[in-house]
Amino acid sequence: MARYAHITGWGMSVPSRVLTNDELARTVETTKEWIVERTGIRERRVASPQQTTASLATDAALKALAAAGLSPRQVQLVIVATSTPEHIFPATACLVQDRIGAASAGAFDLSAACTGFVYALSVASQLIQTGAYQNALVIGSETLSRIVNWNDRATCVLFGDGAGALVLQSSSRPGGVLAFSMHSDGSGGDLLSLPAGGSRMPATHETIDQGLHFVSMNGREVYRFATRVMAAATREVLAKAGYVLGEVDLIIPHQANQRIIEAAARQLRVSMDRFFVNVDRYGNTSTASIPIAICEAFAAGRLHVGDRVVLVGFGAGLTWGAALLQWVAHAPVPAAPWRLSGLFIVRAMAWLRSVLRRLSRRVEAFLFGERGDTGRP
Ligand code: ACO
Repeated sequence: MARYAHITGWGMSVPSRVLTNDELARTVETTKEWIVERTGIRERRVASPQQTTASLATDAALKALAAAGLSPRQVQLVIVATSTPEHIFPATACLVQDRIGAASAGAFDLSAACTGFVYALSVASQLIQTGAYQNALVIGSETLSRIVNWNDRATCVLFGDGAGALVLQSSSRPGGVLAFSMHSDGSGGDLLSLPAGGSRMPATHETIDQGLHFVSMNGREVYRFATRVMAAATREVLAKAGYVLGEVDLIIPHQANQRIIEAAARQLRVSMDRFFVNVDRYGNTSTASIPIAICEAFAAGRLHVGDRVVLVGFGAGLTWGAALLQWVAHAPVPAAPWRLSGLFIVRAMAWLRSVLRRLSRRVEAFLFGERGDTGRP
């Protein structure tokens, strides 16, 4: 029997701190007019010192699970697409898995920069469609404010923090993720990168002094690349599924720059009212931009049962890709008060479980010392 990967829950989490163009214009040589005219961005969110990629992801994930009516214990897979993982390892997805108490889930991070969410959705949908998994939690989460050079006007105006999550569940009913495309061109890797901090260039005093732990970008080249691939990826994913543009109800693009989205619309000969845009309020939140936009599109009444929706993104790598969805979910139920108070209980239980597991590891080490199962006699 054919299996389909339905989107049954969605949730987002953005920091409450709003950073406006006016504020930025007081710290770097720019104007709010320049930023709006060249990017469409008016404000972005910035994480507090206590907020991290994992904490935003956890908030978004719990909301998505509540909306789907799925308990964390039932979750089988957690994928976090991110360009700002908490660490190189462990994976941010493992931290989220622990914090939500998804005791039986596998978890991994996916790195494809801003296209990461489209990639992650594609991977999860295939694992569900083959019957290997019944559900998956797919999250895009970022704290880009931590890797942006706040003295570099060419990049600091662009990015913002936030997270969005979707729950995918198996169904025999047609719908959900219908097709996807994923592409890369590593020859353009240098156009947008974080030069230091990986194994190629570990952190040293020199790398810090040279600012090599900040985003480095050739904006003009990335712009040219983005305007080229957005329309192409949209056409490709539609062709794969056997649809034409006229059958698409909504296009949710990666929110990097209003002008890039308008260029894609012109190339596709689709009017802007068939695109969902919220880059003005969040800036570029990389992997989180598409799931946040999905949440807001639903809240704005732009997603209805049966709608065909294209998600399309591009990013560092270079990477680009698209997914075609048929929206199947009715109104979620996260607003129900018992569910919201339930989130607190879920968090507390997950925390308790995590503490007990750490404790049991200590007790085991104390009791058995090095005589654990090390493979030695
Ligand atoms: N305020 C004022 N002037 C600025 C600013 C600023 N914030 N930033 C750059 N400028 C200046 C430049 O120095 C340049 O001056 P110059 O002509 O004297 O050299 C001038 O403005 C024009 O610069 P351009 O780069 O040509 O400006 P452009 O119109 O291309 O806009 C922008 C720049 C917004 C960065 C654009 O190129 C862009 O959006 N590129 C794509 C970036 C992107 O989407 N990156 C994310 C990819 S997704 C991911 O994986 C994270």
